[in-house]
Amino acid sequence: MEMNQKIINARVTFRNSPIHILEKFTIKDIENAYQQFKKHSELDECVIIQTCNRIELFAKSKSDNMDKIKKTWASITGLDEETFNENIEFVENQEAIHHLLKLTSGLDSMVLGEEQILGQIKNSITSAREVKASGQHLNTLFDKAIRMGTRIRNSSGIGKGGISVGSMAVKLAEENIDELKTKKILLIGTGEVSTLVAKSLQRRGYEFNVTSRTIGRSETFCETMGGKPIKFEEVLSGFNRYDIIFVATTAPYFLVTQERITDAMKNKNNGMMILDLSNPRTVDEKVATIGGVKLMNLDQIAEMVEKNMNARLNKVKNVENIIREEVSVLEASMKRLDAEPLVTDVFKSIEDLREKELQKALQMLGEKDEKKIKIIEELTKAVVESIVSTPMNNIRKASEQGQPGVLELASKLFDYKKQNQAD
Ligand SMILES: NC(=O)c1ccc[n+]([C@@H]2O[C@H](COP(=O)([O-])OP(=O)(O)OC[C@H]3O[C@@H](n4cnc5c(N)ncnc54)[C@H](OP(=O)(O)O)[C@@H]3O)[C@@H](O)[C@H]2O)c1
Repeated sequence: MEMNQKIINARVTFRNSPIHILEKFTIKDIENAYQQFKKHSELDECVIIQTCNRIELFAKSKSDNMDKIKKTWASITGLDEETFNENIEFVENQEAIHHLLKLTSGLDSMVLGEEQILGQIKNSITSAREVKASGQHLNTLFDKAIRMGTRIRNSSGIGKGGISVGSMAVKLAEENIDELKTKKILLIGTGEVSTLVAKSLQRRGYEFNVTSRTIGRSETFCETMGGKPIKFEEVLSGFNRYDIIFVATTAPYFLVTQERITDAMKNKNNGMMILDLSNPRTVDEKVATIGGVKLMNLDQIAEMVEKNMNARLNKVKNVENIIREEVSVLEASMKRLDAEPLVTDVFKSIEDLREKELQKALQMLGEKDEKKIKIIEELTKAVVESIVSTPMNNIRKASEQGQPGVLELASKLFDYKKQNQAD
């Protein structure tokens, strides 16, 4: 009889696959996927985690399923099975648990220690639980891994010093400009990078104007991100009104030209800082030669992000050590779960037996005195418990220590049938 459960992780992530390839592995109908995986890949439990950097399946099973998982995943996504060979990674048990901890603590993220992944994992296990795709093993594993991940993040400070090109640009503006709060700030662009800049400005309590070619886009942007929408033409002819300008557009030409800034500076009696987050540049490098203008481009900003990143990298070793310790704790509790169906079953049948014999005895005695009945009942309970609890705890321990032989033997001794096994 096979008692050992496997914890499996199959994944396609940004580490092996560029984003445009990664996208192809995305699972659209997750609920349906759960059914398919369970049916065709012989998985007892599954949880799918999907973000823009990864598509991951965690599962519990009793057999080897790598090929079956590939097959099911291929049929769900309409991909060739061969496509998986170069992209999929597959690990089991200790390594799968280790990987989950790396995920929850932010060690496997593109931006080390970023917060989002933790929320995404929480959502994944919550919805898997709701549709009963996951069960006792994965629920326990995920709950513990989420708690551990949160603890690791807090104690190591791996996520500290929020960095994105957006918040780094704002930080640089703060470092270079006195009393930024009193200055006029402009954000050109309403895309992804602008969102990061706006978030950071908003968080730090700065007022700012936003512009984009279409005023409608700026308006929608400002509704959610804050800031005040300004007409594009108004900005182009009036750069002199601003002291700090963040530029993050995909315009294929210089939006901020030497001419426009030269004009602006003529009508301005204080300096101007321009931060160009675009690649290719949308600010002409020549504006840096104009008196009173400070220009920073994406390379310089990215370099600062990199430096900041190194501070996080130094913390990685520490986090890796903590994870290594926690993996064995998690692994033990997973193995301990292997013994639970048998332990529950034995306790139940002994309890049934006790109850039956107690009723028989009480009937024979014709006892009516509640107090005496109580004493007899307690006696039966005490006897049963003192006999059973030690072997049961030893079975749990043996399971935890990875001795499936003991579990097998116990199954024989207690006449435990596998079909009784309740998950
Ligand atoms: N995404 C990143 O992780 C990242 C990181 C660092 C740097 N960057 C660079 O940052 C820049 C912006 O990237 P993004 O991801 O924010 O792009 P995005 O989400 O596609 O947004 C592009 C923005 O550019 C504006 N735009 C496009 N063509 C324009 C034009 N001809 N004149 C004026 N505005 C124009 C668009 O507004 P309208 O449609 O209203 O014109 C939109 O607001 C790019 O150069 C990119 O290389 C991106």
